[in-house]
Amino acid sequence: MQWRNSEARWGLVAQSLHWLVALGVIGLAVVGLLMQELSISPTKVKIYALHKSVGLTVLALVVLRLAWRLFDARPPYPAGMPAWQRRLASLTHGLLYGLLLAMPITGWLYNSASNFALRWFGLFSVPSISAPDPELKALAQDLHTWGFYLLAALFAVHLGAALKHHLVDRDATLTRMLPFAGRKETP
Ligand code: HEM
Ligand code: HEM
Repeated sequence: MQWRNSEARWGLVAQSLHWLVALGVIGLAVVGLLMQELSISPTKVKIYALHKSVGLTVLALVVLRLAWRLFDARPPYPAGMPAWQRRLASLTHGLLYGLLLAMPITGWLYNSASNFALRWFGLFSVPSISAPDPELKALAQDLHTWGFYLLAALFAVHLGAALKHHLVDRDATLTRMLPFAGRKETP
């Protein structure tokens, strides 16, 4: 597979970043929802720390992904796709990118406003992005929760669209994002 995107397929870099971020976000969402139910223990503290470190890693990967996107143009939409569907796809992708930035940033803000120390996988300290502030803490927590609901709804639309392209339209939208799927060169 080639590194860069072509007219017909997503390249290795865009695919790797897409699937790493997708895996990270799904894992973070499941752990984020479950970890709050745990009773206070050293394990709970470790799981919170892991959630935060993986979340910051996702932030770095999303920034890298957006930078790569500027350098490597995405493959065009399928030729016969109606204009309203292209607009909806662009809007959904834009909102997904916005939330992929907003989720880790609100988590980081929540942590900073709570005055908790933050270390990336225990290796180095991550600076605070705000002074301790109870009101900001509550706001960041709400934004982190509501951002997740919006992200989950958009993800459902995203997955539904990918499956519709594959099963109903029978075009290459899904397979060209999959590393091992048969090469279907017509977009
Ligand atoms: C893409 C990245 C992230 C996703 C998808 C994500 C997702 C979630 C979800 C779904 C929850 C449960 C929300 C709720 O039920 O109220 C949660 C909670 C939490 N997240 Fe994240 N998170 C991300 C990044 C981060 C980062 C980078 C930090 C901190 C540096 C962080 C800190 C927290 C904390 C402290 C909680 C617990 C909130 C509470 O106890 O009320 N998250 N996260
Ligand atoms: C099983 C889950 C997933 C499937 C099957 C899937 C499938 C796809 C496909 C086929 C594309 C290419 C769309 C096109 O050519 O226009 C795409 C792009 C994209 N996906 Fe996913 N995806 C999944 C999970 C996720 C998750 C969890 C996120 C983030 C929360 C995400 C965010 C994006 C974004 C932002 C793009 C736009 C890429 C760009 O234009 O730069 N995907 N996805």
